[in-house]
Amino acid sequence: MASITVRNLDPATKEALRRRAAQNGRSMEEEVRHLLGALESSETVNIDGSARSTAAPVVSGSLAGRHILLIIGGGIAAYKGLDLIRRLRERGAAVRVVLTSAGSQFITPLSVGALTADRVFTDLFDREDEHDVGHIRLSREADLIVVAPATADLMAKMAAGLGNDLASTVLLATDKTVLIAPAMNPKMWDHPATRRNRRILEKDNILFIGPNAGEMAESGEAGAGRMAEPLEIVARVEEFLDQSPKPLAGNKIVMTSGPTHEPIDPVRYIANRSSGRQGHAIAAALARLGAKVQLVSGPVNIPDPQGVQTVHVETAEEMRDAVEQMLPADAAVMVAAVADWRTKSESGEKIKKKAGKGPPSLKLTENPDILAGLGHHKLRPRVVIGFAAETNDLEKNAKGKLQRKGADLIVANDVSPETGIMGGLKNRVRLVTRTGVEDWPEMSKDEVARRLADRIALMLEEAEA
Ligand code: CTP
Repeated sequence: MASITVRNLDPATKEALRRRAAQNGRSMEEEVRHLLGALESSETVNIDGSARSTAAPVVSGSLAGRHILLIIGGGIAAYKGLDLIRRLRERGAAVRVVLTSAGSQFITPLSVGALTADRVFTDLFDREDEHDVGHIRLSREADLIVVAPATADLMAKMAAGLGNDLASTVLLATDKTVLIAPAMNPKMWDHPATRRNRRILEKDNILFIGPNAGEMAESGEAGAGRMAEPLEIVARVEEFLDQSPKPLAGNKIVMTSGPTHEPIDPVRYIANRSSGRQGHAIAAALARLGAKVQLVSGPVNIPDPQGVQTVHVETAEEMRDAVEQMLPADAAVMVAAVADWRTKSESGEKIKKKAGKGPPSLKLTENPDILAGLGHHKLRPRVVIGFAAETNDLEKNAKGKLQRKGADLIVANDVSPETGIMGGLKNRVRLVTRTGVEDWPEMSKDEVARRLADRIALMLEEAEA
């Protein structure tokens, strides 16, 4: 195999190589080896970095094919801009960055460039930039412009229509939507001038995210002024750029997911193996179709689903109360593995072993059946859906539950240990309605969620007719 001496490369190629290597976490030699390997397997490579980045590692993802122009202003929150670039690219977006001169006091163009795999735009009067892209094109090429952090100064410039550096000129020249994530000292955020500018920007249809309240970088200062977290900004960007159909827009859907924990004493509880994965995936899928989803989640170790209002509870009774509070709703999807029983009375103290007395006996009492309650409720949602976790007589039991609980559809699954469904990533379900049974092949829980969300949209449409 031919060998290559990095030292002998011309300076421009060396710089491009160094950037790629830094971005990919490889040494320069390793990067060269990777590039040669990629050439052999005819993968597209882009070493000079001068063209629009085609080397984004992700080609699928919620932001695939989208172009974001990120303007990073000057402020301690500028470092979060680096994480924001990473998060946007992880989702497939191409990110170009304008770094203000104040911003470059906090982070360097080098680190930004390494993360975007693209050149970084810093100076309005850079002849090369003007020739190559120009502030007009820069502002028009993007699907969305994000300003993070947006300082009080940048906001003032935007409100006044100033264009005295690249960032403000781009913002003035653009015909695209601008989302700003303000970050500043709480006193500056609250200053009458900033408040005035906020009103102007809102009127100009500038979108805002944050600022959040909390501790400031300055010691002893707290209040509204912290920049929204990168993941919050990403979620807002995804929401804005999501143009998929929204057949569930205008519908409110109440959901339960996860297990419940029924306390025995302060340290022990009755529980089950539900991970909440299937329920949470359904909640997210319904939200993606435009529904307003309110989810009551039992104790789980997975994050709240995106775009879903989530309430956390422990016990079946808390779950029932939370669901009741969410009525009326257009549909209810009860996925939680609610414990059927709770202890009659929870011991206030840890139950101790007593020598020679044998194990204590637990007195149990039945928990409320949340699904059955909804199926026969005076505020019954138009569509009521339940799950049936069974280890035997799947169809027969599911049909019984459909009837007993007053549901329109029961999603039945075999949770025998050998199926690996409980707590796993895959699911195999059977849909039981009053008119028939439908067998779905095994698929991921996300896919079950997507298909079920489509089915619910159809059921709501039919229930309306
Ligand atoms: N469910 C409920 N409240 C309960 C028990 C169950 O809302 N106290 C709901 C579940 O969320 C699910 C459906 O009822 O949608 C069926 O749950 P499952 O545990 O399969 O059935 P059970 O009614 O508990 O009956 P069994 O345990 O005898 O199978």
